[in-house]
Amino acid sequence: MPSIANVPSPDGLASKTVIREKKEDGTPLYPDYMPFYDPLEKVDDIGAFEHKDAGLRADAALPNLLKNASKVYDLSPHVGTEIEGVQLSGLTPEGLDELALLAAKRGALVFRNQDFKDIGFEAQKKIASHFGPLHIHGWAPHPAAGSAEHMIIYDHKEDLRVRRSWKGRSPIQWHTDQSPEAQTPGTSFIAMLESPATAGGDTLVSSSVQAFKALSPRFRKRLEGLTAIHSNNDGVSQELKNGSGAVMRRQELTAEHPVVRVHPVTGEKALYINPVYTKRIVGYDQEESDYLLGFLFDHIAKRADFQCRVRYEAGTVLVWDQRVTNHSQTLDYPAGDRRHGFRLTPLAEKPIPSLVEEDDGECEKDFGRASLGLC
Ligand SMILES: [Fe+2]
Repeated sequence: MPSIANVPSPDGLASKTVIREKKEDGTPLYPDYMPFYDPLEKVDDIGAFEHKDAGLRADAALPNLLKNASKVYDLSPHVGTEIEGVQLSGLTPEGLDELALLAAKRGALVFRNQDFKDIGFEAQKKIASHFGPLHIHGWAPHPAAGSAEHMIIYDHKEDLRVRRSWKGRSPIQWHTDQSPEAQTPGTSFIAMLESPATAGGDTLVSSSVQAFKALSPRFRKRLEGLTAIHSNNDGVSQELKNGSGAVMRRQELTAEHPVVRVHPVTGEKALYINPVYTKRIVGYDQEESDYLLGFLFDHIAKRADFQCRVRYEAGTVLVWDQRVTNHSQTLDYPAGDRRHGFRLTPLAEKPIPSLVEEDDGECEKDFGRASLGLC
């Protein structure tokens, strides 16, 4: 056993702890990306469009995406893969198609030390718009210097607007972004510009494909064919608490989507409900809907066996497919520290409903279930 004298003192630990990149004078690393709120700003909806997913054009061997990859490792068995050696800014259109395919299969892809953060608004948007027209948020800030499509993620002692919006409730809120849109987000990007000094501000990601697969075959059949109402009315109410400073660029959104959607590229079925936006199951009485959704929301939140956690430094880019995952912020770092990034959110297809197959043989193919006599 080590003696007490050999245990590092707190000061010794502090001197060895890596501090993430910060400016000495406390100013932000990326001032051009500071959040801008204009209460008078209005934007039009994108409207209906035909979506052909980039992943449909991809070579399944991923030769263009992985040409320069030095290391590829999964963050967990069911969701998340980190890729080293690849610069997203250097990918060809074929490489971007393969990026969509791999994001669809793995849910979330993490790339570190990316120059993506330094290539400017237009080049960033050109890459993201390869996957679909870029969403403009109803109230979240964009950079003062332009680009309404850049949704700024910002938390700092001089701008506590976002942190205050979580006052009195858990900041852990599993969701898929903008599910009340008629055509919902697909392959999406978060680029981190500055992270809290030592740790925190991670994104939690959960596989919605595995969330569906983990249910019993009979229960899965019960869910297929159901639809649910998604609305951003809670977010609108929260934003309106900012009074005369509230931003309301677009109308409140409501959409009806299948509870189980099929990915257009992989054909995989994913549970498509979330506690932030999904309000009720169509055709169920209120109590029935609350009971079923309550179970499903708990299922997503509790099942850490199909989740991963993405840690960021300045330059980390998360590319994830919103159709097959839910995610949550953490907001666990000291209040006042700066977390700064941006999201680009291409819209994809209108969710494709999963069809009920009375005997799809899936249970017998699932060794985990078959071996336990659960079929
Ligand atoms: Fe989100």
